[in-house]
Amino acid sequence: MGTAGFLVLLLSSSFLFEGNCLDDSGQKSESSELCPSDIESVLRQMSAALSAQQVEINHLQEENKENKVEIRHLQEENKENKVEIRHLQEENKHLLLENQVRQVAFSTALMESGGGQFFGPYSTDTTLVYKHVITNTGNAYNPLTGIFTAPVRGVYHFHVHIFELFTGSYFARVSLVKNGSKMVTAQEHQSTRSNGAASNSVSVLLEAGDEVYVVLWSSHRIFDDTNHYNTFSGHLLFTSDL
Ligand SMILES: *[C@@H]1O[C@H](CO)[C@@H](O)[C@H](O)[C@H]1NC(C)=O
Repeated sequence: MGTAGFLVLLLSSSFLFEGNCLDDSGQKSESSELCPSDIESVLRQMSAALSAQQVEINHLQEENKENKVEIRHLQEENKENKVEIRHLQEENKHLLLENQVRQVAFSTALMESGGGQFFGPYSTDTTLVYKHVITNTGNAYNPLTGIFTAPVRGVYHFHVHIFELFTGSYFARVSLVKNGSKMVTAQEHQSTRSNGAASNSVSVLLEAGDEVYVVLWSSHRIFDDTNHYNTFSGHLLFTSDL
């Protein structure tokens, strides 16, 4: 019961009891004063109602305190959820990138344009720059340097094909090289007046950052034109965490 309720109770009581007191002889008093017994009764009711209200207020204060604790917990939980969401978003980005990195394949030929020409002989081993890019998914092959750089650890397959125009003086010989070490070599030498070709290929485990390229041996020579007889190709077979 609120304060307004008490007021109503008080007013209605004083209205009801006004002028209805019995005097000592049991007669109705003509006085307009409130009877003392009635006032006492109203005060008793009020004090009972007040203490009931106090109990109620205590309960509400307790509940309020608990609600505040609950809200703090929920705010903490919310903060943790936000952190978790950020982590998941990061992870998702990484997985998407990783997936893109797993698509690696290139196929190239020596000459981009121009007439037929010899490559070599040079005085030192020389990296061949395959300028005609047919495929370069993942952009791991650099057509400016001729170097393929492994974007992820994995097993890759490489293939090289060379063509020789007979002149009688020079062998054709190239190697697939990993970080300065020759892995496999293709060689061709025609002793009669005809043309020749040779190939070789390799499957090799590479670390991310390892480089693979084709080297033309010193004092050797190959021939190419825009028919693209000389090619260098590579593919990622599978990534490896082992
Ligand atoms: C291969 O060479 C690249 C570039 O120099 C280097 O980053 C990489 O660590 C080398 N790999 C090995 C296995 O030596």
